[in-house]
Amino acid sequence: MFNNTQNNQQSEEHLDMNRIPEHVAIIMDGNGRWAKKRHMPRIAGHKRGMETVKTITKVASKMGVKVLTLYAFSTENWKRPHDEVSYLMGLPVKFFNDFVPELVENNVQVQVMGLIDQLPAQTQQAVHDAVKDTAHCTGMILNFALNYGSRLDITLAMKQIVDGVVDGKLDPDEIDDQTISDHLMTGFLGQLADPDLLIRTSGEERISNFLLWQIAYSELVFTDVLWPDFDKDVFDHMILEYQHRDRRFGGLDTTNRGDTQ
Ligand code: IPE
Ligand code: IPE
Ligand code: MG
Repeated sequence: MFNNTQNNQQSEEHLDMNRIPEHVAIIMDGNGRWAKKRHMPRIAGHKRGMETVKTITKVASKMGVKVLTLYAFSTENWKRPHDEVSYLMGLPVKFFNDFVPELVENNVQVQVMGLIDQLPAQTQQAVHDAVKDTAHCTGMILNFALNYGSRLDITLAMKQIVDGVVDGKLDPDEIDDQTISDHLMTGFLGQLADPDLLIRTSGEERISNFLLWQIAYSELVFTDVLWPDFDKDVFDHMILEYQHRDRRFGGLDTTNRGDTQ
């Protein structure tokens, strides 16, 4: 279940291109420790981590992943020192400035989920521009969770559902799994809302308020590799690990896929 993958254990094996996970979500962790190991300030780790985002976006897109959801800033990350938060808020501006042309070249569409209107004006602008500039792209969706928290996500969904009931637009007897999924911030992804694979780097084995509802049947893979050191080889290895899993969705074989009713 919660496997800590061994390095290069399966490196001779090839990926099954017919079983690439459609939605991969990543908790990109370990930037601070990467910098500390090098006696550098934490923000140096975030800067390097941004380069990893570029690499993995291209790798995932070429592999045929349909949605790549990246946890970039949590609703709890505001607790960090002001300087670090302010650097992190500047990163999307730098990232999209550098990278939007390559995203367009790779036909990658940017989406963002979280409380975007709480971000500094410049960050909001960068995010909105990136979404707009890639709106015509029809390939992989690069979905950033920015000022995202899953309990917030669920709370807001509950409020919307209650509002629907109060307004007489929603019959409480008809509320089911799908109603809740549709009201979450991943609702726009439709059938692809739930990650097939969730990766967390840096050796921590916890979810840290990410996609709690959506990972009900995701395969969870953890690696000790710190996010700035994460690369194509490690990503391939995580996909291989995923391909070794037996997804049963509560049934006895893999033909029950996704049917939780
Ligand atoms: C992940 O790296 C990036 C964010 C949470 C924004 P961290 O900054 O959490 O790095 P560590 O966990 O302190 O090493
Ligand atoms: C989770 O990492 C949030 C992101 C990767 C954006 P954290 O480093 O904030 O999580 P904890 O504090 O170790 O649980
Ligand atoms: Mg961390």
